[in-house]
Parts: sequence; C-alpha cells; structure tokens
Amino acid sequence: MIIEHESMVTDAVLRAMANTRDPRLKQIMDGFVRHSHAFLREVRPSEEEFERGLRFIAALGHHTHETNNEVVLAADVLGISTLVTLLNKPLSQVESAAALLGPFYRANAPECALGDTIARSETPGSPLLVSGQVRDGDGTPLAGAVVDVWQASPIGLYENQDPHQENMNLRGKFRTDADGHFHFRSVRPAGYPVPTGGPIGELLVAQQRHPYRPAHMHFVVSAEGHETLITQVFADDSDVLQSDVVFGVTAPLVGTYRRHDRIDGFVPEGVEAPYYTLDYDFVLRKGVPTFPIPPIP
Ligand SMILES: [Fe+2]
Repeated sequence: MIIEHESMVTDAVLRAMANTRDPRLKQIMDGFVRHSHAFLREVRPSEEEFERGLRFIAALGHHTHETNNEVVLAADVLGISTLVTLLNKPLSQVESAAALLGPFYRANAPECALGDTIARSETPGSPLLVSGQVRDGDGTPLAGAVVDVWQASPIGLYENQDPHQENMNLRGKFRTDADGHFHFRSVRPAGYPVPTGGPIGELLVAQQRHPYRPAHMHFVVSAEGHETLITQVFADDSDVLQSDVVFGVTAPLVGTYRRHDRIDGFVPEGVEAPYYTLDYDFVLRKGVPTFPIPPIP
C-alpha cells in the first residue's frame, strides 16, 4: 500500500502483518499496533519527544544487568506487572491472591529443613518466626508443597545488591509436612526503594513519586496438581502500604506481623524478645505447576 495520508498507516501495518502464522501472535501484534497508533494520535509526540522515548526504552536495556532488571522495573512501576497478574489470577474468595514476581527472584534457593533460618550470614534485625499451612481450595492440606521464600534484609537490600550478605542470604525453599504446615526463622524485612540509578529513577522523580515498597516477603508456592502461586505478604504496619511504588498490595496480602515484647509460647533457642511472628496460609488453585523465569541469575 502506498501511503497517501497519516490515517492510512495503521491499516497498512495491519495488512502487512495479516499472514502471521501463529494466531495468538497475530492477535497480540494487531492489538499492539492499533493501541500504540491510537496512543500516538492522542498524545501527538514531537519528533524530539519520540527520540527521547526511544532513548528511554534503550536505556532500560542498558541498565539491565546481573543485579538489576530495569525492564521488569519499568513494567512494575507502571502497574503493568500487577495488571497482568490480576488479569491472569483474579482475586478470589478462596484461593490466595497472587502478586507480581518482582525483579529479585532467583531460582535454586537452598533447600532448607522446617524450622531453619534463612538468615545465612549475620543479619542484624528483629527476629521473625514465619508459619503457615498450604491447602487446596477444598481445604485439604497439601503435604510436600514447596514454599520458596525471599526477602530484603532489615536495611532493605536483597543479598545480590549487598556485598555484606552471603550468597542466597534470606532465600530458602521449605517443604510442607504431612499436614501441609511450614515454619521457618528469619529477620523482619524492611521496606526498600526500588533501584533509582536508571531511567525509572528519573521518571519517578519527574512524577514526584517516592520509590518505596512496603516491607514484604516474597513467596513462590508450588505443589503437584496445582497452579504455582507467586505472591508477596506485606507488613500491616508499613507506612507506605497505601502507596507501594509497584502497586503490589491487595487487601488479602496484608499480613499480620505480630510484635511480641516478651517470649510468648514456644520460640526456638536464641530468639529473644522483642520478636515478630507472621502466620499466613496459602490456598492453591488446581492446575498445572509452572515456574517463573528468574529475571536475574
Ligand atoms: Fe521485594
């Protein structure tokens, strides 16, 4: 097609892509072209703004490396990751709510025994005892389910961002017992700013947004015959719970991080007051387990 007017461009592109073999790829690309062209017609970028936009996207790649994935971060701070999560895993009254994976998931976290601590190097902070049960939607406990957990330290850094922490500090995989229960030790995570050294940091400044996430623990919970649950459990006393920079907080994911000012019931040796407990159950949907591709090695 020879273009005679701006209004013909969208149709020309759609026609050019008309023979795409994979119908799903065709649907996705058609939708992308129609909506991105509509977006351009709405905002009418100048040529300078267009070049700036292209440089911004290239910079996402340039700032993606071993310890940071700026592309994932961009999707996160624009609400895209959360929207995709909730479109695929709608909030339900029965199954646990899902939340975005985030940029710091690593595969191959060490396998731990129930009761172990995931603080592998000296990690000063308030002790945290985490426990819960994994069940299916009928309430049946899931024995042998894998609870893969990772979190930031009490100063708000993941181990791969912090040379003072050992490899895989504050990461671990636990297997539920015959009653579907799990428990482990850790230290209370702190909220943290998302990385602000790249183009996303500049965008947040321009938008007068703070870069903080409320304190949370990440979980990937999996079991045979069930969809893998990717989620986060947030601290109920966080001051940025209402304004998570990546929009990850949904009501069911606010966990009760209970403070104990004196020893209250059984605590493992070495745990001193004040300490915190988090009791949180996970309910999985029947289906096929799949596992996320780690954004960083
Ligand atoms: Fe996180």
